[in-house]
Parts: sequence; structure tokens; C-alpha cells
Amino acid sequence: MGLTIGVDIGGTKVLGGVVDSAGDVLAQTRRDTPAQDPAQTADRIIEVIQELAAGHAIDAVGIGAAGWIDATRSIVQFAPNLAWRNEPLRDKITAAVGLPVVVENDGNAATWAEFQFGAGRDADNSMVLFTVGTGIGGGIVIGGNLVRGTNGIAAELGHMMMVPGGHPCGCGRHGCLEQYTAGPALIRFAKADAREKPELAEQLLALVGGDVDAIRGHTITEAARLGDAVAIGAFEQVGRWLGVALADIVQILDPQVIVVGGGVIDAGDLLMKPARASYEDQLAQRGRLPVAEVRPALLGNVAGMVGAADLARV
Ligand code: BGC
Ligand code: NA
Ligand code: ZN
Repeated sequence: MGLTIGVDIGGTKVLGGVVDSAGDVLAQTRRDTPAQDPAQTADRIIEVIQELAAGHAIDAVGIGAAGWIDATRSIVQFAPNLAWRNEPLRDKITAAVGLPVVVENDGNAATWAEFQFGAGRDADNSMVLFTVGTGIGGGIVIGGNLVRGTNGIAAELGHMMMVPGGHPCGCGRHGCLEQYTAGPALIRFAKADAREKPELAEQLLALVGGDVDAIRGHTITEAARLGDAVAIGAFEQVGRWLGVALADIVQILDPQVIVVGGGVIDAGDLLMKPARASYEDQLAQRGRLPVAEVRPALLGNVAGMVGAADLARV
């Protein structure tokens, strides 16, 4: 098979690209994700595909969507952070673009890309990936294959329960990992601490003109780099919870490699250092037993798109 198109749909953007069998991106384009509107979202996806297909001979399309996909890789059954409810995405898009289409979970797609072409390309058997963004995405590779589960919804790692009775989650439960490690959690922690201890949030508050409500993810990263204690502390809280989840994954799957990706890892060691420290602290047997190395993702924001394109091929 020659070229395929991958489209990654997250909470904020629709990113599409033409990808070859080596995982190289030959062309790409993006749109904003229309807020909570499945019909407009489908239109955006179709636009992106038509734009890309106009300049290349395309064999198939893979869509990575931030939701729970059915076993036939066609329907988005549910999306904790988007408006899809039993959305027949594959059929809608196929009808409009006239190409074979598969729908994959965005976390699974990013996992596949990192396993094939990125941070896990030296692993030949097993890898687990967490993406830290608007939500927490996950993906599991065992025996060189993506684990999709009986009903297509395996590897929903963001909805493991960390805190019984904790913060409410878009999935309907309380206390999911996603509520303690994703971008919105980082912002929630920083806002709470900036209100409670403004004297420790000097740089952070200066960046938002004193308006706590104006704190965003990128302002927290910027303030943390300037040495702001509240901003650094917010990353430490998020990292600590992430480390707990990484350790649990080792207990369950004992993979070769764990990869951490998603937009929030642009913060680098601000997140990875506390995550690694907590991971090591949680694994009491570390030092006595070999455990998976934790690595940052390599493909950046094209991982979901490249993975979806590659999964359309196999
Ligand atoms: C959803 C996943 C998705 C992840 C990242 C989670 O809330 O349940 O399906 O992969 O967010 O977008
Ligand atoms: Na997943
Ligand atoms: Zn949840």
C-alpha cells in the first residue's frame, strides 16, 4: 500500500496528514475542533481529507478519535470530553470521501506510531503509552499487536480510579486518573494553590495580571520555568499521580517500555522528573527486579495522525 491519510481529532484540533509507509508525513493541515458539535466535526474531517487527497494518490484513511470506539473500528460509542454518542463516523466519512476508512482511538493511534516509528521502535514486543493532554489517552501493545479488547475499548488508562469518591470525571465516575494528571487537572491544582498561597505564586500571577481565572497550561509551564513555586508544585502533583499509574501498569503488564506523550510533555522534566520519582517510589521491588524504562514520546503532536494513517494500512 502506498500513501494513507491520518486524521487526529482531539479536544481542540483536527490534524490531518498524508503519511507514507515509513511514517513520514508528506503534507499536513489542521482545523479547530468545532465545540461539541458532531455534525460540524464530521464536516471538518471531510474538508481535511479532501484537501489532502487533492494532491496525492491515497489508498485509505485512518481517523484517531478521542473516544471509545467499537470493535468494528467504525463507531465512536462515547467520548468523555467531546459530544460524540454512538456516532457512525466511519460510514459518514466513507460516504463523503469515497475511500476506505477506519476509526481508531486516538491514544491507540499514538501508541502505534510511537511503537513503530518513535520512542518504542526498539521494543519488539510490548509497550504502554500514556498521553497527557485534554484527557489522558492510553494504548497497550503486547506481542507486537495493539490490544483493542473484546469490545474495542481496552487501554482506557485515563479512567483508572485513583481516588475513590474523588473529582468528577466526564466518563461518569469520580476520581479517575484523568482528573489528576491531564491538562485541566494541572490548571485546577495551580489555580487552587495560587488562591490559597498567592505569596508562592509571584511569577504565575504576574503572567496573568493577578487574575487567577486567566491561568492556562502554557502560563503554568512558563511560570514554572521562571521558578514559580505554585507552578512547579502543580507539575509535581500531576507527576506524582502519573507515577502511581505507571507503577500500576508495571504490576499488571510488565511491559518492555512505557512512553509518556501528549501536549503536556512539552514541559519536559517539569513533568517527567516527578513522574519518574513517584514511579520509582511506588515500585518497592525496583532495584531488585527489572522494570520498564519510562521515556518521553518522540513524535510530538503528529503521533496520533501518523498512527491512525499506519493503522489504516494494516
Ligand atoms: C478518553 C479516551 C481518549 C483520551 C485522550 C479520554 O478521556 O476516554 O478515549 O483516548 O481521553 O483523548
Ligand atoms: Na486507548
Ligand atoms: Zn473517567
